[in-house]
Amino acid sequence: MATRVLTGITTSGTPHLGNYVGAIRPAIAAARTAGVESFYFLADYHALVKVQDPARVQRSTLEIAASWLACGLDPQQVWFYRQSDIPEIPELTWLLTCVAGKGLLNRAHAYKAAVDRNRLDATDDDAGITAGLFMYPVLMAADILLFNADKVPVGRDQVQHIEMARDFGQRFNHLYGEHFTLPEAAIEARVATLPGLDGRKMSKSYDNTIPLFAPRAELKKLIFSIVTDSKAPGEAKDTDASNVFQLYQSFASSDETAAMRRAFADGIGWGEAKQALFERIDAEVAPLREKYETLIAQPQRIEAQLRDGAQRLRERYAVPTLRVLREAVGLRDLGAAPADVAQNAARASASDEKPPVFKQYRESDGKFYFKLVRGERVLLESIGFDSPKEAGARIGHLKREGAAMLHHVAGEGVHLGNELLGKLAEDAAIEEVLGALATLIEADA
Ligand code: TRP
Repeated sequence: MATRVLTGITTSGTPHLGNYVGAIRPAIAAARTAGVESFYFLADYHALVKVQDPARVQRSTLEIAASWLACGLDPQQVWFYRQSDIPEIPELTWLLTCVAGKGLLNRAHAYKAAVDRNRLDATDDDAGITAGLFMYPVLMAADILLFNADKVPVGRDQVQHIEMARDFGQRFNHLYGEHFTLPEAAIEARVATLPGLDGRKMSKSYDNTIPLFAPRAELKKLIFSIVTDSKAPGEAKDTDASNVFQLYQSFASSDETAAMRRAFADGIGWGEAKQALFERIDAEVAPLREKYETLIAQPQRIEAQLRDGAQRLRERYAVPTLRVLREAVGLRDLGAAPADVAQNAARASASDEKPPVFKQYRESDGKFYFKLVRGERVLLESIGFDSPKEAGARIGHLKREGAAMLHHVAGEGVHLGNELLGKLAEDAAIEEVLGALATLIEADA
């Protein structure tokens, strides 16, 4: 199965060059890697924790969506959606809230920092702190666990959140069966943090950013306002300590960078260096800026793209997953016997699809196999058995008990009780297998 890589972007500001170099550019390059299923979403529920200005949330959501699209994200190749279009995310947030340890949340860095500030001010520990800030890690865990993401590329400040997602997922699995893949943080060591206008890390909180799609004239003005030392033209300049040089390097090829390094040694003037920097950045950004301007002028098209992404994603994963999870925790049809987990799932599942069937066959290795197939799609492939009777016994078991004994163990395969049964087909999800089994059982009843 493809590795699932998931990234959320909080919609609380305007994308700047630091976001582009540190997140957008590497993420779009990574999405083109084979064997990866990518999820990119606009974390607008998270934005509400920080921003309580509705116009700003809306504007930021539009700007970030348009930026990612302009930079080459293809919504037909990756899942691209808005968090608040997926009601299963807040629904899962509650299920996770009920297994999350409060003590663990007390130790979250962002919450603790807010408490520490209050203590310095000698006010109440929780003065001005919302429950939204406190619960932020649980919402984030729901973003990740809902889609069983394997890898989450994040900055160091977010690693603790991934660890918490693992913790909540593990507790849930322990209580209710193996439902969640435990995600891993992927920290991109190679990705540069860009210096801002004042030399500190480029960040909205320092007010030292260069907006990614600032108009040309503004881009030039901002670049010329970058702080430098006071060395005169003709004096050799230090590349390591220079923001101008570091910015240049993030956009230039290694040859261009080497040439600039020599120019610094030869005493290039700051004005000239900044002009070269401006031209280098503009060369990369100008074509994207043009696309961005076209996109942002048609917000209704972006709206439609986001809704389409969310709708397809809900059908494919979110809705069937929540159906299974609700069953798992006991939010069930009262008329159903407690064990009829799968049957309930079936009732809600799409009935106009082709009926699923088991197909038995023999391979050249002399063993007996079966597949679960729905229309053109293969969902599950069994391991080889020594006799058709043994394969048939497993099929009989699945048809009688359906999902009750079936679980997916990441990295191993699909198990029936304690025994390895087979593996998911290349692009199938366990939820589809469970749904198909439920349909079969219902048809037999
Ligand atoms: N908290 C992340 C940030 O501030 C944004 C985010 C929300 C996120 N949900 C996520 C990132 C899920 C990765 C996965 O950068």
